[in-house]
Amino acid sequence: MSRVAICPGSFDPVTVGHLDIITRAAKMFDKVIVVVMTNSSKSPSFSAEERMMMITKACEGLDNVYVDCYDGLLAEYAAMRDAGAIVKGLRAMSDFEYEFQMALTNKKLNPNVETVFLTTKAENMYLSSSMVKEIARMGGDIREFVPDVIHNEIINRLQKERN
Ligand code: PNS
Repeated sequence: MSRVAICPGSFDPVTVGHLDIITRAAKMFDKVIVVVMTNSSKSPSFSAEERMMMITKACEGLDNVYVDCYDGLLAEYAAMRDAGAIVKGLRAMSDFEYEFQMALTNKKLNPNVETVFLTTKAENMYLSSSMVKEIARMGGDIREFVPDVIHNEIINRLQKERN
């Protein structure tokens, strides 16, 4: 089996929950590609370039982690990169049905790729990018939820959006 794994997501923006999953995946696989993708049911606040830049900063020091973006099917991207695994974080029960459906569909589209679920740390169970954005827009403290290196960037960007 290929030892390349893909960590896909919207990452709008990347949170400490995402970073925990990426860090753990980096210990399990030779190479991890974090790929910013389009989720057709979400309209992102940050551009793909901004999201990639924030992930790159947050992942500094993780030597086998690479950042990319792709506007197409995840199964197709995994085949293009010869990846053997798609790694996803699993939070509260509400994630399960959606993630299960995606995993089965991706398996159908690309039988060479396995979806691997890592359970989130208990403290990240209810953390989401949309919650982070809502707190930040309303002037709340998001320091605990996002990597330190991108905290100011997120705040500045969301406050600009507000003005
Ligand atoms: O962080 P998210 O929004 O939960 O990530 C979802 C994402 C982007 C991984 C998913 O929407 C996706 O795979 N998008 C790419 C298009 C695709 O392959 N869709 C079919 C999924 S079965």
